[in-house]
Amino acid sequence: MTLVAVDETQGDKPMKLAVLISGTGSNLEALLSALDRSELPGAEVVIVGADREAEGLQHASIRGIPTFTVPFRDYSSRALWGEALLEALRASEFDYLILSGLMRLLPKQVLDAYPNRIINTHPAYLPEFPGAHAVRDALAAGVTETGASVIEVAPGVDDGPILARERIPVLAGDTEEALHGRIKIVERRLLLQVLKDLQEKLK
Ligand code: GRF
Repeated sequence: MTLVAVDETQGDKPMKLAVLISGTGSNLEALLSALDRSELPGAEVVIVGADREAEGLQHASIRGIPTFTVPFRDYSSRALWGEALLEALRASEFDYLILSGLMRLLPKQVLDAYPNRIINTHPAYLPEFPGAHAVRDALAAGVTETGASVIEVAPGVDDGPILARERIPVLAGDTEEALHGRIKIVERRLLLQVLKDLQEKLK
């Protein structure tokens, strides 16, 4: 009898991902759970970093995925923080860097190191409501619908090329938390779809 080695990922291109977070990392957890369920065969998160002691790092560490923290407040300038962040990222090889709730603009040297390879999710229908308070701003504006977007990161604030976006209705009596919760569900689905598309493009 001849044993033939079966490659279970046959047909699915390997895709290595790095993720940066700042907070609870619920979107990171959703991505890791989707990978656990093999929803994106061939893809793996190889490193997760944060700009502060972020609770969400535990979603990676409990799975044995390496993590790092480069606290922004430990550095006297954005550029110095950027250098340290880049050094931490360069310790791993990856195809795409995902900003999953990183509440910080990436310095130029990090953007330059990964051209067209940094992806961000945003809780609004860009270019509407860019910035750190997109859900609050949408509620304050009294719009009847907002949305979720996935973009390629550019030097400005949430102004890179849009890779996917979807409308989400604002419901009567919506709180910021309730609306953001519904938006995150869509963000997670859009991110997976974008990653599938990007995986196809990998050589
Ligand atoms: C998401 O809405 C993301 O788009 C925004 O911050 C939120 C991250 O939430 N930048 P979590 O930390 O993953 O729960």
